[in-house]
Amino acid sequence: MRSFVVTTALALYASVVAAQQSSGATSYLAKEVPIARTNLIANIGPDGSKSQGAKAGVVIASPSKVDPDYVYTWTRDASLVYKAIVESYSRGEDDSLRNRIDQFVDSQAYLQTVSNPSGTISTGGLGEPKFHIDLTAFTGGWGRPQRDGPPLRATALIGYSNWLIKNGNTSYVQQKVWPVIKLDLDYTASNWNYTGFDLWEEVSSSSFFTTAVQHRALVEGATLATTLGLTSLATTYKTQAANVLCFEQSYWNPSQGYITSNTGGGRSGKDANSALASIHNFDPAAGCDATTFQPCSDKALSSLKVYIDSFRSIYPINSGIAANKAVATGRYSEDVYYGGQPWYLTTAAVAEQLYDAIIVWKAEKKIAVTSTSLAFFRQFASTVAEGTYASDSATYTTLLDAVTAFADGFIEIIAKYTPADGALAEQYHRSTGAQLSAKDLTWSYAAILTANAARDGHAQESWGAAGLTAPATCGGNQGPTVGVTFNVRAETVWGENIFITGSVDQLKSWSPDNAIALSPANYPIWSVTVPIPASTRFSYKYIRKLDGKVTWESDPDRTFESSASGSSSTNDQWR
Ligand SMILES: *[C@@H]1O[C@H](CO)[C@@H](O)[C@H](O)[C@H]1NC(C)=O
Ligand SMILES: *[C@@H]1O[C@H](CO)[C@@H](O)[C@H](O)[C@H]1NC(C)=O
Repeated sequence: MRSFVVTTALALYASVVAAQQSSGATSYLAKEVPIARTNLIANIGPDGSKSQGAKAGVVIASPSKVDPDYVYTWTRDASLVYKAIVESYSRGEDDSLRNRIDQFVDSQAYLQTVSNPSGTISTGGLGEPKFHIDLTAFTGGWGRPQRDGPPLRATALIGYSNWLIKNGNTSYVQQKVWPVIKLDLDYTASNWNYTGFDLWEEVSSSSFFTTAVQHRALVEGATLATTLGLTSLATTYKTQAANVLCFEQSYWNPSQGYITSNTGGGRSGKDANSALASIHNFDPAAGCDATTFQPCSDKALSSLKVYIDSFRSIYPINSGIAANKAVATGRYSEDVYYGGQPWYLTTAAVAEQLYDAIIVWKAEKKIAVTSTSLAFFRQFASTVAEGTYASDSATYTTLLDAVTAFADGFIEIIAKYTPADGALAEQYHRSTGAQLSAKDLTWSYAAILTANAARDGHAQESWGAAGLTAPATCGGNQGPTVGVTFNVRAETVWGENIFITGSVDQLKSWSPDNAIALSPANYPIWSVTVPIPASTRFSYKYIRKLDGKVTWESDPDRTFESSASGSSSTNDQWR
């Protein structure tokens, strides 16, 4: 048994103060946490009881084979699950996790080399969202690329590396872990300034969660690179991290008081995206810093209230619940997937953000109320004014108790809609509360475990968020482009025109409205030349427009890889 290393003083302090927690949430978690641990491990290869066929270290999203088929491994989900596993292992909770983490490292080192529709290891393949569980490429149509996978995987592996270095095992980091991290950080540094699909795989644009996790990975990656003596790489990551942090500020919507989740997609932008970004970028040393949208920052709290409130009237199971009490929450109010239902992992994320906030308030022995967070705090004390309330004030106690009860309320909502065997699917029904969509979602279990850890006062490791400031002017980072001439043979009727759209910004990110017109100068060959990022594999389709009516080419998407320099062309036939 190796010795348990206490890594943060905050954890010790917070764990002794648990007076106001609700007994309902406490008893639910006492029963559910061991179930969540068991069921999470069951979804990991090679020996998980519900993950037959998964290679060693591979996390299946869910054992559900039909309606929906989730027997794939998503880089985002797997990395968030392993982030939770690494945190648990680092806290000394379960030594048997070590071997699993090493298997994850090996599986990802291999997966990075698998050519897929997003590219090869050097042409964008790291942005591929999901793979088969035997680590072969999934080649069907999908929302790709998704650029949050690489930074999330880097964060999980940096957490492990930091533990290894602290425990005298730098050589394993250098030989095995760092090469995987470096590829993900290089991808992130080179690609953060291009659009991709959001974490819900629906909107192709820039997305707050993606930007925020890219920033974190680059910051902690630069620190690790420095530790390993790689100073010029560290400088590259730091430079891009500053650019990303600058861009990250642009998601804040000051007049409405929330973080707009996506730059595209045509929705309100009130989305669990922002709460998830806050909890996965929690750095206790950064206090309530709003530049990195820390869980207790005024911007993140204001955004959280706006997000929660967007579900109060739309889910029947929330009816009759007072406006300042916990409710069921989902991904975003406009959601129609499976009818648009609450999700366990989003409801748990709300609780976790609040528990993280409580950890910091207790450690700093104060709560600050600003004009931005006033509406959040006035839910609990209608006359509270802007100001900083020290821990010996009545206002501090009132607010801390109220937020603790509020946070536990979200756990009690989950408890109410958890079946007797403790299994957690992806969603629960907005009217009946019955589970639906993918059963045993691995991410649902991870979400319970991380919310529980935060409730117990375990702060996550610091990653370097403290004291960061966003540069006054934002630098972009789009690399060189090369000309690609798209030629397609297409017979058209009078008034009909041919357009192209696809997976890269230059092809308007799959937008039929903004699709690029081709010229019929050589009819029936239609052509257009577009500058495309060099050495990039991308997907595209032609569309027809006649009197405002859009007709897409049939599946599958076409793919093409731009050259490193010079120009290239396609020779396509409408299909
Ligand atoms: C370093 O970590 C690796 C991976 O867990 C392990 O196999 C190896 O035995 C460790 N080495 C030492 C010296 O602890
Ligand atoms: C690229 O960065 C610039 C500067 O922050 C920003 O204005 C632009 O919207 C970014 N584009 C994408 C797709 O990230």
